[in-house]
Amino acid sequence: MSLPFLIGEQMTGGYGRGADILHVCTIAVDEGQIAVIVGPNGAGKSTAMKAVFGMLNLREGSVRLDGEDITHLSPQDRVAKGMAFVPQTSNIFTSMTVEENLEMGAFLRRDDIRGTMAQVYDLFPILKEKRRQAAGELSGGQRQQVAVGRALMTRPRVLMLDEPTAGVSPIVMDELFDRIIEVARSGISILMVEQNARQALAIADKGYVLVQGANAFTDTGKALLADPEVRQSFLGG
Ligand SMILES: Nc1ncnc2c1ncn2[C@@H]1O[C@H](COP(=O)(O)OP(=O)(O)O)[C@@H](O)[C@H]1O
Ligand SMILES: [Mg+2]
Repeated sequence: MSLPFLIGEQMTGGYGRGADILHVCTIAVDEGQIAVIVGPNGAGKSTAMKAVFGMLNLREGSVRLDGEDITHLSPQDRVAKGMAFVPQTSNIFTSMTVEENLEMGAFLRRDDIRGTMAQVYDLFPILKEKRRQAAGELSGGQRQQVAVGRALMTRPRVLMLDEPTAGVSPIVMDELFDRIIEVARSGISILMVEQNARQALAIADKGYVLVQGANAFTDTGKALLADPEVRQSFLGG
C-alpha cells in the first residue's frame, strides 16, 4: 500500500491553550480521489480541516503531503506546496467583483493566470457572466462557486472544502457535487466536510465519521452508506 497523498495522522490538539478538541484523529485523501468527513455538529470536522491546513498547533500527530512532513509549515507555505482551503465561513471578498476574487486567489503566482481563469469560467459559466459584479450580490450557490474558483486559481494539487453546499438548495447541491467530481477527475484530490452526509458519501471514495474529535467509522463512501450502525446513528436511519 502506498501512502495517501495527504494525511493528517493521529492528530491531537485544540485551540490555543484550551482543551484538546482532536483526539488521535486521522483523515487522508489519495491522489485524484474524493474523501468526505461527516459527523454531528461540534464533532471537530472544521477543526480537523484547520489542523491539516496548519491553522492549529498539534500536540501530537503529523501532517504529510506527497510523502513530505509538513506538520510545522505555515498555511501560506502549504499553499505554495499545492494545498488550497475553502473555509466554512467568510470564504469570499463580498465587496470585490467575481473576477477580483479570482485574481486574489492567484496572488502567490508570478506566471500568467489567464489560462486558469478560463478553466474556472469553463467549470462555472455563471461566474464568467457575472465577473464584473460584486461577489456579495450573488446567490449562495454562486458565492460557493466563487470560493471554489478562487481556491482553484492557485492550481492546487489538493482542494480542501468545509461544507461547500451549506445553505444551498438540493438542486444547487447536486450541481456543485458534479463540478467537484469534475475537479477530482482532473487529478486534484478533494478533502471535504459535508452536512449533507448521504449525498456526499455517495460521491466519496473514502468517508470519515468523526465523533467528539475522534474517528468513529472509516471506510469507502459506499460501505459507510450500507453500514446499519452508521445509517442509524448518523444518516437518519
Ligand atoms: N476558534 C475556536 N476556539 C475555541 N474553540 C473552538 C473554536 N472553533 C471551534 N471550537 C470548538 O471546537 C469544537 C469542534 O468545533 P468544530 O470543529 O467547529 O466542529 P464541526 O465543524 O464538526 O461542527 C467545538 O466544541 C467548538 O466549540
Ligand atoms: Mg464545521
